[in-house]
Amino acid sequence: MNTVADLKIDLVEVCEAAARACAPYVGSGQKDEGDGLAVDAMRTRINEVKMKGVIVIGEGAKDEAPALYDDEEVGDGRGIGVDIAVDPIEGTNLFARDAAGSIVTLAAAPAGTMYRPGSCFYMEKQVYPKAARGKIDPEAPVADRLAQLALALGKSVAEVTVFVLDKPRHQNLMKEIYACGAKVRLATDGDVNGAIQAVLNKGSDALFGIGGTPEGIVTACAARAMGAEMFGRMAPQKDFEVKLCEEENIDTKRIITRDELVTSDDCMFIATGLTSGEYVDHVKVGIDADGKYMTTDTVVLSGSVGNIRRVQTTLHV
Ligand code: FBP
Repeated sequence: MNTVADLKIDLVEVCEAAARACAPYVGSGQKDEGDGLAVDAMRTRINEVKMKGVIVIGEGAKDEAPALYDDEEVGDGRGIGVDIAVDPIEGTNLFARDAAGSIVTLAAAPAGTMYRPGSCFYMEKQVYPKAARGKIDPEAPVADRLAQLALALGKSVAEVTVFVLDKPRHQNLMKEIYACGAKVRLATDGDVNGAIQAVLNKGSDALFGIGGTPEGIVTACAARAMGAEMFGRMAPQKDFEVKLCEEENIDTKRIITRDELVTSDDCMFIATGLTSGEYVDHVKVGIDADGKYMTTDTVVLSGSVGNIRRVQTTLHV
């Protein structure tokens, strides 16, 4: 086990374990209970993996949700050093309402290669598919970026769909996109999901807007693994966060490139479906002669040349 890629099956099992643990709470209206079960199952399984892992970024800080903590050491303490970014339930509201797009997600890369965002919980993100890599000026106005994207994709701007989180902070962004004649795919939650749709050419051509920083780091690993394009910019939203960013001299104007967000090609993105989705299916429960079973559906993006693995696992529970 000399590379992060060698840990693929172990880390898939980490996500599957989290998905099986929280699946009974899909559609229950109880997001924190589900999140807690996913976190506990993830922690138990990840600590069996032969690696010296560190959670570079988890999710608890922004939402005060159950979490694997930033800087928490994970793994069994042997083997290679690994940076981990996790979101045990990405889209907790979607999960609680059994709405499409909730996933368990984890990203991994060699120790020291993931961007550490300090106390900034929100990041502005632009994510584009591989065909647009190197062809977008991230600082250009929305209209210019859409024109550059359309050209790269061989489409008209009217045929371009941008995934945007349906948040008050994005009202102007939406208006700018509509004014160009492009389409907006709105979702209340789940910008990792939107980014992966763009990266895999499944439903959206790009993701624009401000979302969580952990989700941004996870997304960068997916974008790099698929040879796709991404830009980030720290975008603190809450007053205390703005203050912390000032104290930490975090530059909120600077565009951060995909290869700064994760500096290694040996990176991996894993997502296991919790509710239905464009690229992974929800957890299914059944009973056969051997008893109750659960089937999980997971996608793994790894390397830097677009390797995609789909893992469907049925276990009796
Ligand atoms: P959760 O997994 O915490 O429910 O996050 C869902 C999400 O929509 C993310 O996809 C997104 O990055 C973030 O929340 C946006 O945060 P906020 O809802 O605070 O605007």
